[in-house]
Amino acid sequence: MHPTLRAFVCAAAFACLASCSRGIEQTTAPGATLAGSLISSRTTMVTAWEFPKNPLTDPALDDSRLSNEIRSGFRIFTNTRVEASRFTPGGMTCNNCHLNGGQREKSLPLVGITGMFPEYNRRSGRLFSLGDRIVDCFLRSQNATGSPDADKELPSLTAKEVLALSAYLTWLSQGFEVGKNPPWRGQNTIPASTLIPIAALDPAKGEAIFKERCITCHGPDGQGVAVGDKRPGPLWGPDSWNDGAGAARVYTLAGIIRYSMPYLDPGSLTDEDAQLLAAFINSKPRPAFPFKQKDYQTEKLPVDSVYYPR
Ligand code: HEC
Ligand code: HEC
Repeated sequence: MHPTLRAFVCAAAFACLASCSRGIEQTTAPGATLAGSLISSRTTMVTAWEFPKNPLTDPALDDSRLSNEIRSGFRIFTNTRVEASRFTPGGMTCNNCHLNGGQREKSLPLVGITGMFPEYNRRSGRLFSLGDRIVDCFLRSQNATGSPDADKELPSLTAKEVLALSAYLTWLSQGFEVGKNPPWRGQNTIPASTLIPIAALDPAKGEAIFKERCITCHGPDGQGVAVGDKRPGPLWGPDSWNDGAGAARVYTLAGIIRYSMPYLDPGSLTDEDAQLLAAFINSKPRPAFPFKQKDYQTEKLPVDSVYYPR
């Protein structure tokens, strides 16, 4: 085992002795009955490689075309920069933000969500199918518009990578009621009562917290340090998500950080820390999304869309 990884696993295992007896727990969302299972938001590096539903080992999947597509989608989801490199010019992977294959509580989980589509998308001001949503993730979070071949081919509804990801995510939603919001959806948000006005968030304060709590894994340059075969995506710079992505919004990013980071102690930051960290990370340069002027034509530009002209 990689020495850094061993150190993390030891620390995590130690924390686990005190706090949990099982790696995989039922979610604790209040009042929720959970049909599938998610990795608990409180467990750490010990469960980093665990997937409650893993199509590579699930005996229910056969050798059919669809089963192969589900497996392919899982591979793309967990290693996007390699498996879908033509739409990922930088270093991002879906799994960097949607931890454990999209099966971790409070890390933007994607279990049971596909029956919510088509759904109105505020940014585009129109109904989005699941495919539209995945295409948008490629264009923005994966910065496909920055690919050297972007003028020839952008991700589309019929691209094989998009279809495979749709197959994997739909498989994760099997057995869930269509049109019914799973209780763990949309939980990565900072409560309105503790939101701090954007102008009052000092990036220098966020930088100080970053140096103290984040650089062991993300590096002082934010580009990510390999932890065994796991490596966070670049938090800024040319290989990161672009400035039209959801994560380029300060409150959206704060909501990711607040409940899923730091990796070994998620939930330990305050709402204020998370917002300061997000303000720092989103004060940095990142690739420009070339179609920003087409966004928010119907709906109001959110206050935390800091890379958009006002
Ligand atoms: C940089 C972080 C990041 C990366 C990388 C990322 N996403 Fe997301 N994703 C988000 C955020 C944030 C949201 C919430 C919606 C928003 O504000 O954009 C989201 C939303 C989604 C949704 C809709 C979830 C729902 O409940 O409606 C899907 C599906 C999704 N992402 C799939 C993907 C796929 C597939 C990839 C890889 C091709 C990917 N994401 C890469 C951050 C990311
Ligand atoms: C112990 C290591 C570790 C620490 C400390 C840590 N992270 Fe992470 N972080 C990771 C790993 C690993 C991932 C990617 C997870 C994956 O792909 O499964 C990640 C992912 C992220 C992401 C998703 C986007 C991306 O580019 O990967 C953000 C944002 C993030 N971390 C922010 C932070 C912040 C802010 C801190 C400090 C409060 C922090 N992290 C501390 C290991 C860490």
